[in-house]
Amino acid sequence: MHVPHPRGPLTEELFGALRSGSDDFYAVLPVATSATGEDAALALWALHELHYRGFDDVPADLEWDPQLIRLRGVLERDLEARLRARFTPPEGLSFVDDVLGWIDDQDGASLAQHVHRDADRDQVVELLRVRSLYHLKESDPVTWVVPRLGVQAKAALVELQYDEYGTGDPNRLHHHLYAEGMRASGLEPSYADHLHLAPLEVLEQNNTLSLFGLHRRLRGAALGHLAAFEATSSLPSRRMAQGLERLGFPDEMVAYYTEHVEADAVHEQLAVRTICAALLEEEPELEEDLWFGAFTCLDLEDRFARAMLARWGVVTDDRDGRDDQEEVA
Ligand SMILES: [Fe+2]
Ligand SMILES: [Fe+2]
Repeated sequence: MHVPHPRGPLTEELFGALRSGSDDFYAVLPVATSATGEDAALALWALHELHYRGFDDVPADLEWDPQLIRLRGVLERDLEARLRARFTPPEGLSFVDDVLGWIDDQDGASLAQHVHRDADRDQVVELLRVRSLYHLKESDPVTWVVPRLGVQAKAALVELQYDEYGTGDPNRLHHHLYAEGMRASGLEPSYADHLHLAPLEVLEQNNTLSLFGLHRRLRGAALGHLAAFEATSSLPSRRMAQGLERLGFPDEMVAYYTEHVEADAVHEQLAVRTICAALLEEEPELEEDLWFGAFTCLDLEDRFARAMLARWGVVTDDRDGRDDQEEVA
């Protein structure tokens, strides 16, 4: 993968500097402090990518360049402040006992529901492409959290991750299943090819996962996010699988979603009742961050779903987006 196309002044400056072979990023920092929107989000996505697979045209040792880390910090602080500003901790609820019911009560817009019943093939292809930014590195951001946990939470998280990584079989590894599904659908199984389609909301979903994973102090938010992610996957995965079948997508693409119907029904219990429960036993002061992570997961997905549905001309009602989605004639 090569450094992507810029989307504004910061990414112009940063990506040019990254490709130049220089290790002087001093001029980029002032541009970062005023960057917003897709420009800031894409810059942060690229800086995080240096910690995953990196870019063919950027030297690997820039991963730990102090000026780039400082730049990353500026963008991450802005992202975290915006995420926290949207969050109000629920009162009088216990995370372990109440989060699944609380999640059921949230009314987010649903892309899976649209794919199930109404979406056309082009919309689903677009969705598969923008989702590839996450699904082709599925579970990797959570792996950063493992060394930051006490023994009980660590053992339980690794049990979940072991499933995500295919229980020792590379052909069962979830991000590989997604790649196989893309390949069978005639899509390039590399997120570099689809990044330019990703709206702000998808960049921020991915940036948030990396932010939570890469900062030890945010381990509670990372696990709260994981719990909400797993708890909102099983039913939508069934709907996605049925929608893909309705539109004649190949078995490999359907298989990625059917794999998640049962797996994530198990994972939601493991995430809440074992991983988060163990974390709270060892570090009860992290309960509010568990809620922050769970809220943020649902909030980001709702914003992403609304952005895609708006792009496709599907109207969602603000109070009850999931039930009242309607196709505009
Ligand atoms: Fe998975
Ligand atoms: Fe899962």
